[in-house]
Amino acid sequence: MKTAVIGLGYVGLPLSLQFARSGVNVLGIDIDSTKIEALNAGRSFIKHIPAEAVAEMVKAKKFTASSDFRRIQEVEAVIICVPTPLNKNREPDISFIIQTGRSIAPHLQKGTLVVLESTTYPGTTDEDLREVLEAGSGLKAGTDFHLAFSPEREDPGNALSKVEQVPKVIGGFTPACLEKARALYGQAIKTLVPVSSCRVAEATKLLENIFRSVNIALVNELKLVYGAMGIDIWEVINAAKTKPFGFMPFYPGPGLGGHCIPIDPFYLTWKAREFSQNTRFIELAGEINTAMPEYVVNRTVEALNAQRKPMNGSCVLVLGLAYKPNVDDDRESPSYVLMDLLGEKGADVAYYDPYVPVIRPTREHPHWAGTRSVMWNKETIASFDAVIIATNHQSVNYQELAEWAQCIVDTRNAMVGLGKKPGQIWKA
Ligand SMILES: NC(=O)c1ccc[n+]([C@@H]2O[C@H](COP(=O)([O-])OP(=O)(O)OC[C@H]3O[C@@H](n4cnc5c(N)ncnc54)[C@H](O)[C@@H]3O)[C@@H](O)[C@H]2O)c1
Repeated sequence: MKTAVIGLGYVGLPLSLQFARSGVNVLGIDIDSTKIEALNAGRSFIKHIPAEAVAEMVKAKKFTASSDFRRIQEVEAVIICVPTPLNKNREPDISFIIQTGRSIAPHLQKGTLVVLESTTYPGTTDEDLREVLEAGSGLKAGTDFHLAFSPEREDPGNALSKVEQVPKVIGGFTPACLEKARALYGQAIKTLVPVSSCRVAEATKLLENIFRSVNIALVNELKLVYGAMGIDIWEVINAAKTKPFGFMPFYPGPGLGGHCIPIDPFYLTWKAREFSQNTRFIELAGEINTAMPEYVVNRTVEALNAQRKPMNGSCVLVLGLAYKPNVDDDRESPSYVLMDLLGEKGADVAYYDPYVPVIRPTREHPHWAGTRSVMWNKETIASFDAVIIATNHQSVNYQELAEWAQCIVDTRNAMVGLGKKPGQIWKA
């Protein structure tokens, strides 16, 4: 089944390569011409996806990239993996999905399958996307073309999570749509989990992400409560996770980051209002998680104070700009919030991240664009009054950090057993 994947980012690119490796001819489509050029030249722009993996599929003529939507006519299936952010009022912005639908519709052929993978609220596929596809093509979903939703479960940087091995939930607009979608994914994915509708599949993805957001909020709150009692939350979690049933560990941190967990739950909050429903768990978790950077900055103030230094005028290094370890993805990273808050308090702020040598322009943090990571050496690291560990990349040498840094505020428990002098390490 020749397949087009639209949106070649953190989700669309690995998915395209998985289909291509399984023998499917994949046409990758993106509006970003730099990505198209890179991919067709066999290069990768995502750290954990090796260039060889792209080059091999391009060479085998199993994968080709283009920005020409007319080529939709050539394929039997179209998978949409475009961004679903929040707008500045923290409401769902499905404009990327709608725009993609408009670009596909004029070229849609009878019998083609369209699957949405972008995380979104229930009803997006069978209401919003269906409407634009039908209006632009003159075809009817479920009769002339197939329509389905299948949520992505990508875990960037997790070497154990292989696209083909992660079970895939699929919901069709009609039973025939579901069958067509099963035939598509069955070519490349081992376990399929069919559900009764697109809305159930959309709701499943939201449950998975809300589950994480709520549980992270819980341990973030317990971090403060236990901290006040002189109990270390990390030691508690490590003990609790020895329970072989009924417990799953989640870890505290400086705040939520990434394209999913800080954003997706609010897609449901927005949609729930249409049904006069409140999403109290989501709101409370959001409130607790977004308060974390402020807490980390307050701990840094305390740590500096103990050295008789004010935050105003101190040099503070944020270690780790990516939102999670071992990746180069800095979207929604709490490190930016930390840097802004520190800057507002008069600190001289810098960052170190081996995977983000220079900050790219972003919509949310344009003022940091062009800022470069500091170098990793004794002289530089020792020159900071405080270092905040925001992300615990494995490649960072924490032993060296302990030897070089004057004061370390650790939000990830990276410095366990490494402190060199009393009062050097502050958990936050
Ligand atoms: N990154 C993850 O770990 C992850 C995990 C699960 C689900 N998701 C969901 O998957 C979706 C995509 O996320 P991502 O991380 O891959 O985003 P991304 O920003 O990495 O990639 C999206 C790509 O879509 C392209 N694009 C935007 N508008 C387009 C259009 N109109 N036509 C064609 N291409 C267009 C962009 O240029 C970009 O290359 C989101 O809904 C996200 O919530 C992401």
